[in-house]
Amino acid sequence: MFHFKKLVFLFVVASLVLAACGGGAAPAEKAGASCAPNCTYADMVLCYPQLGAESDWRTANTASIKETADQLGAKLIFSDAQQKQENQISAVRACIQQGVSVIALPPVVEDGWDAALTEAKNAGIPVIIVDRSVSADQSLYAAHIGSNMVLEGERAADEFNKMMPDGGAVLELSGTTGSGAAVGRAEGFRNKLNDNIKILDSQTGNFTRAEALPVMQAFLQKYKPGVDFQGIFIHNDDMGIGAIEALKAAGVQPGDLFIVSVDGTRGGFQAMVDGWFQADVECNPLLGPQVYDMALKLMNNQTIDREILTNETVYYPDNAAELLPERKY
Ligand code: AHR
Repeated sequence: MFHFKKLVFLFVVASLVLAACGGGAAPAEKAGASCAPNCTYADMVLCYPQLGAESDWRTANTASIKETADQLGAKLIFSDAQQKQENQISAVRACIQQGVSVIALPPVVEDGWDAALTEAKNAGIPVIIVDRSVSADQSLYAAHIGSNMVLEGERAADEFNKMMPDGGAVLELSGTTGSGAAVGRAEGFRNKLNDNIKILDSQTGNFTRAEALPVMQAFLQKYKPGVDFQGIFIHNDDMGIGAIEALKAAGVQPGDLFIVSVDGTRGGFQAMVDGWFQADVECNPLLGPQVYDMALKLMNNQTIDREILTNETVYYPDNAAELLPERKY
């Protein structure tokens, strides 16, 4: 009898500990929200722990998420992590506490999401990874919506291959270290760049104008433009604009170097009109409609595509002036 009571006691303690730690077998994800299969946008509370406000791309992405919530009548819980993963993780946890319908997460970096994603899964809250990718196991999130970053890097390499058929050297101004965008673009660039084009140096400018400026200045201290290098691959337009400031100050003229950037923002288009960029690889931030559409499907327990990649292109200076006025970001 004594043994039986002891056994029951141990079982209860073990269950409580497991529940508190979120350990043990992960409970199955909730089959949709409680309103399923008739949930509407009025039932939706979408959590968007935005990674920061580092670029014009990001500003446009935030606007798209906020405007779409207003248009559809969904409730949005928005936060800005200021490019710090720990802030984003805290924001995800706060949303889990609040019992949101869906979390749409644009991760600042790829690694380090397992714990937060497991907590969301255990709480029955589906997570859509938006924009950049995560390295976590696919079973921890519902789907990914965003750009093919590797393809963007490959497209940039194609441009240099065309512009520098006899080879040469290029510099790379890379995005946030460890981010899906920087990792993918760097990989794609190396996949496709011709063997006769050498990557002389690669440094991060963290996707911001302010941080790209000193990086470009340091490059120019070390390497002579037109002699040591003929081109620059820049992972986003904001860093491109920072780099142009440094190039101008060093006496470099538009067209002296081959410059390819990524995003296709108005700033990037202006840099093409001004003769600085020879190509701008599109990365589209206007993901709001797709995110809410998928979130509603998840709430209603409908089938979704696990990966939705944005259809993108490359822009060139020849029609940049014509397209600039109609650019949405
Ligand atoms: O993840 C998308 C990238 O993040 C964009 O290219 C860049 O502008 C932003 O900061």
